[in-house]
Amino acid sequence: MDTDTATYKTEVTAAFNGAAATYDRLGVEFFTPMGGRLVEFAAPRPGQRLLDVGCGLGATLLPAARLVGPEGSALGIDIAEAMIEEAAGEAARQDIGNVELRVMDGEHPDLPVRSFDLVLGSYSVIFLPDARAALARYAGLLRDGGRIAFTSPVFTRDTFPFLPPLFTDLIPMSLLRHLPPAWHPEQLHRQLHSWLEDPADLTAALRTAGFENVRVVDEPVDMTARSGQAWVDWSHTQGMRLLWQHLPADEAASLRARLVPALDALRGDDGLVHIDVPVRYVTAEVAR
Ligand SMILES: C[S@@+](CC[C@H](N)C(=O)[O-])C[C@H]1O[C@@H](n2cnc3c(N)ncnc32)[C@H](O)[C@@H]1O
Repeated sequence: MDTDTATYKTEVTAAFNGAAATYDRLGVEFFTPMGGRLVEFAAPRPGQRLLDVGCGLGATLLPAARLVGPEGSALGIDIAEAMIEEAAGEAARQDIGNVELRVMDGEHPDLPVRSFDLVLGSYSVIFLPDARAALARYAGLLRDGGRIAFTSPVFTRDTFPFLPPLFTDLIPMSLLRHLPPAWHPEQLHRQLHSWLEDPADLTAALRTAGFENVRVVDEPVDMTARSGQAWVDWSHTQGMRLLWQHLPADEAASLRARLVPALDALRGDDGLVHIDVPVRYVTAEVAR
């Protein structure tokens, strides 16, 4: 691993370790509904063995583990130890016994070949520096007939990275200059847009990685937040934490002051802030 990649991974790990205690628990619904929908696309069957890469607190892992049932098993891996500890607590709370959790770099999974029926990854593949190489490794982990199912943001050229179009006007692109090079627009375009933005490129990347019957479906998740303030607090517990961590205090304060009222203005009749978040659901079968 080169130094830049190692530094990047250390930062991502620290950010998610710092986020784990409150991750997805601050009055915003996004990862849980998205994870549930991904499981519907993946349709795990009783008795299957599945792997969830970058499992976080288990938004995908736990509903999938229920479906494979006691005859099946679910392994969740995550690079952030605190996420794995929280996910173990969540599995115990939900009384789901067929789950194993391990701290592991999902880019280089140290797991036996041809030992899974399904590989899942919700909003996690995008954190891998060389995701396309990782996809080929996942193909190797799958048994004949095995499938992969993952989500990613719908990347569009001029939107703020990872966020729905609404935020493009609220968060100046210039703030990206505070981030480490891995998050600068040119690097993000090279690493993510280049193969994830256009479904044809994505399909080609999956074929090269050893998959066939690729299906790409873009569908919005109705993200809800109790308030603009709740959304901003929540944004410190996911990937955007990396931005908050690098912003000078005055820029962070003015971003917060801009976001809170703008998001509060999106409250619906139910009193919740609703944000349509385009999500890309990708499924494919291993080609053999
Ligand atoms: C946005 S969160 C999504 C978590 C979960 N899949 C969900 O939907 O709630 C991304 C997760 O990927 C994990 N991650 C990032 N890079 C990783 C890597 N190289 N290997 C394994 N996990 C990684 C993070 O620690 C974090 O838990």
